[in-house]
Amino acid sequence: MSTWLVTGAAGFIGANFVRLASASVEARLVVLDALTYAGNLENIADLVEAGKIEFHRGDICDIDLVNELFGRHRFDRVVHFAAESHVDRSILGAEPFIRTNIQGTAVLLAAARASWQDRQGKPLFLHVSTDEVFGSLEPDDPPFTENSPYRPNSPYSASKAAADHLVRAWHHTYGLPTIISNCSNNYGPWQFPEKLIPLMILNAFDGRELPVYGDGRQVRDWLHVEDHCRALLAILAGGQAGRTYVVGGACERTNLDIVQRIALEADALLRRSPGSAAKLIRHVADRPGHDRRYAMNAMALQRELGWRPRHDLESALPAVVRWYWENRAWADRIRSGTYVEYYEQQYGARA
Ligand code: NAD
Ligand code: TYD
Repeated sequence: MSTWLVTGAAGFIGANFVRLASASVEARLVVLDALTYAGNLENIADLVEAGKIEFHRGDICDIDLVNELFGRHRFDRVVHFAAESHVDRSILGAEPFIRTNIQGTAVLLAAARASWQDRQGKPLFLHVSTDEVFGSLEPDDPPFTENSPYRPNSPYSASKAAADHLVRAWHHTYGLPTIISNCSNNYGPWQFPEKLIPLMILNAFDGRELPVYGDGRQVRDWLHVEDHCRALLAILAGGQAGRTYVVGGACERTNLDIVQRIALEADALLRRSPGSAAKLIRHVADRPGHDRRYAMNAMALQRELGWRPRHDLESALPAVVRWYWENRAWADRIRSGTYVEYYEQQYGARA
């Protein structure tokens, strides 16, 4: 049986990934996660307790720990999610982004290279990255592809771009079998409520303001997290080392459209009169350097690996809103403590 190292699996996408992988792949899954503010052992506690994954709390920048794990397990796959992932936090302070996203990725690459030097079989290092490395599109531009130039605009996207470049260089120079996936905005269960969709859902439930940055006409390409995780499994099974794969939902929506949909869903779920939650929408100061539009053309992935998204936003969003209603206790635990401080700093109001 093969053994996979999954970094950052106590976060949003990683938790969804190990849930899907443990149900569908014959592999031992070893998780390394530092449990930062965004990491939550609760997200994967049932899998740990059932022995479906092995959990290690630790930092990907800790060279000794990472080397020790590689020595102990002889990983066949590395699926690298661990990152500082929120643009607004990167604007408040870039240092943790530079450390984890760049330095941490370099530590993992070095450990994989040392461990795989005399390695038979076909090990693979999958680096999970973002569409944001390609910068911002004009309204009439075609969506990003694998050939789009890198033009990161935020400290977050710049740190992810730097990590992508390291991964590419380790393949080109040392022959390390790496793949980069660049995915668009994800939504789904277990997303930390600093990101647009869970933040708006929970605020709508609580009758709190729905803070839309600027005019709210910025566009994002939304993909259900389960579809992203299925794309990653397809890449791990059939992807070619040295390649980049672009992943996206072909689902471009303005932020205002998303927030209005969420408001209507929350009204329906809570049996409030339609339009109640929409009254909570407030246009607030825009994000500095805010990227206007992201969109991805995932045709190569569809053609070569047969992947297609199964969820569409319109039918998936009601279930996602319901998930956050049914898991309010989970959200309330997260939204205490340091979240309150972050919310005050970011929005000038108490969470
Ligand atoms: P997240 O913030 O929810 O989770 C990140 C996880 O990484 C947390 O569990 C955290 O504890 C862990 N982590 C952070 N620093 C660490 C360190 N130094 N050592 C070990 N663990 C550490 O992020 P997410 O939304 O699940 O994103 C996962 C990955 O996918 C990121 O690399 C992100 O750039 C990428 N991505 C995210 C999206 C999206 O829409 N959320 C889209 C495309 C790509
Ligand atoms: P976010 O979820 O932070 O993802 P990203 O910036 O990585 O795309 O934000 C998605 C969009 O929603 C982005 O254009 C910023 C906007 N946004 C708001 O308008 N208000 C908010 O409170 C948040 C968190 C985001």
